Amino acid sequence: MKYTWYGHASFELETGGKKLLFDPFISHNELAKHIDINSLKPDYILLSHGHGDHIADLFTIQKNSGAKVICIAEIAGWLGSKGVADAHGMNIGGGFNFDFGRVKMVNAIHSSGLPDGSYGGNPAGFVIYAEGKKIYFSGDTALTYDMKLLADENLDWAILPIGDNYTMSADDAIKATDFINCKNVIGVHYDTFPVIKIDQAEVAAKFKNAGLNLQLPAIGGSLEL
Ligand code: NI
Ligand code: MN
Repeated sequence: MKYTWYGHASFELETGGKKLLFDPFISHNELAKHIDINSLKPDYILLSHGHGDHIADLFTIQKNSGAKVICIAEIAGWLGSKGVADAHGMNIGGGFNFDFGRVKMVNAIHSSGLPDGSYGGNPAGFVIYAEGKKIYFSGDTALTYDMKLLADENLDWAILPIGDNYTMSADDAIKATDFINCKNVIGVHYDTFPVIKIDQAEVAAKFKNAGLNLQLPAIGGSLEL
């Protein structure tokens, strides 16, 4: 399974010939100016919640690709009213078997208003089951005891926010790895805005001292999961 970071909390998982794009916010990200969103042709777009820094490029990329959108029911309904008919609504705790594998929607502690003020339901995270691997994307979230529900999943990788202010800090993300019982972490949701700027060397040292494998690829860079 291939992971490619597009900056902020935007990334793509390529699995079994299918491309899953998460939380597209690229063209408004100064740090991701070298990414051409018109080159992105995902089969699926997964949305953790309705904030602009997670859905800003959704309409362009969905139109270009015809991707099916996977998100909470309220956002699926909102997308329908905006002309995106191919949205698969889910809700917290529910899973569904897609052609690439299974997606389970899990709890996140955050907020989720949509850009036009519409109600976006609850924010969410996802567990992706594909190629015999289990990948957890927490979405924007605080550290929460609900993460302990994932401890017996034997997760292979966790994609966690580390930028603080709007989400968990790196310190809380380290605590989260204990709750979810996963040592392999990809950090997201940092450096995009001044309030979430991190000292990468300091954060990397903290994860290393905790016995964890933290990966911070460059924007546009990939990892084999
Ligand atoms: Ni958010
Ligand atoms: Mn966010």
